[in-house]
Amino acid sequence: MNWLQTGWRHVWLPYAQMQTAPLPLPVVRTQGSEIHLADGRVLIDGIASWWTACHGYNHPHVAQAVAAQLQTMPHVMFGGLAHEPAYQLATRLAALLPEPLNRVFFTDSGSVAVEVAIKIAVQSRLNKGERGRTKILAFTGGYHGDTLGTMAICDPEEGMHSMFSGLLPEHPVIGLPRDAASIVAFDDFLEAHAKTLAAIIVEPLVQGAGGMVLHPPGVLRHLRKAADHYGLTLIFDEIFTGFGRTGTMFAFEQAGVVPDIITLSKALTGGTLPLAVTIASDELFAAFLSDSANTALMHGPTYMANAMGCAAANASLDLFQTEPRLQQAAAISAQLAAELEPCRVLPGVKDVRVLGAIGVVELAAIANPAALRLKLVEQGVWIRPFRNIVYLTPALTITPGELSCLTGAIYKVLGAR
Ligand SMILES: Cc1ncc(COP(=O)(O)O)c(C=O)c1O
Repeated sequence: MNWLQTGWRHVWLPYAQMQTAPLPLPVVRTQGSEIHLADGRVLIDGIASWWTACHGYNHPHVAQAVAAQLQTMPHVMFGGLAHEPAYQLATRLAALLPEPLNRVFFTDSGSVAVEVAIKIAVQSRLNKGERGRTKILAFTGGYHGDTLGTMAICDPEEGMHSMFSGLLPEHPVIGLPRDAASIVAFDDFLEAHAKTLAAIIVEPLVQGAGGMVLHPPGVLRHLRKAADHYGLTLIFDEIFTGFGRTGTMFAFEQAGVVPDIITLSKALTGGTLPLAVTIASDELFAAFLSDSANTALMHGPTYMANAMGCAAANASLDLFQTEPRLQQAAAISAQLAAELEPCRVLPGVKDVRVLGAIGVVELAAIANPAALRLKLVEQGVWIRPFRNIVYLTPALTITPGELSCLTGAIYKVLGAR
């Protein structure tokens, strides 16, 4: 494994203390829900590569679409040039989403899609001559990315607000209106501060990176009502929850309300290529139209609307039409609920919860998540505990047998603690 030892001196890993980080596991191949390691071991993947590989790895339909696109045109700049995969994808996404979500802006990562959502929310007001409404209301436990703009709307701890104070813009971060007391606090906050706000941003139904914390659909209805009352832009960040993860194609469908902006990424390309979109309402888009170049949306990542990424996303949407992904999510949900439930009585377990194809075992604490991860690897599964949770977000195509390997490994390893 020469490349690993040599390259290890040069790579910088995500979210890792490099002084103590163990060598990562070298992977040589993926297939379906399998990760094949260089030493011949095969791990069942419980988290679909940070929630991206919704059809499993190497789905032939997506692979073929990407290969064909590579032959004809891997990439062409999006400023002044057009290509069919992107225009077709924009049309399909707009058709998939309810009115008035019709205008698609392409980027290359989830964080940047959220940055664009913030810019749209703020600039749409500036374009109309409304000054002083530059704040975004965000929620404790929320996560929207690692760039500076998005860190500022993450949970203060996750976004390291105090460490980076002075560098990050300051936005209010308060509790979600989920019970009587927090609803009063939320309503009071808006009454006092709505005039400074441009938007409210939330991860609908589940705060993913914040610990897979669920909230009921009524929370989203309350946010929609408040946004309408105070004239605020409502942003649903569905970068994690989009494309069947919560059991419906998009999480917001379960609340019966529609945001003014939605951000999507991760499973958008079925886990093959980096691509993200910010989809805005007709009304927001209209606020950028004028005779002056000054009101244009000034954003344009070099690789935006990458043709291979768009081809992958179109192929992924084909699969949602032709294969029973939402039924698979429902079956996964039932199996997760049944097979994780026994964990509830294990020592140190605080909660077991399931939403769609998300299964969570919450512990009082995990002293060493990396050590727990290695114990799970010894059981033949790839699961990445973080904070105080062990969770599963498998490919929607995972087989019942593979899923049982994952839940069984969690039960065994947590039972032996
Ligand atoms: C809800 C949500 N928003 C934004 C992001 C950031 O996406 P990316 O890592 O592609 O920048 C994530 C990533 O986990 C996410 O879960």
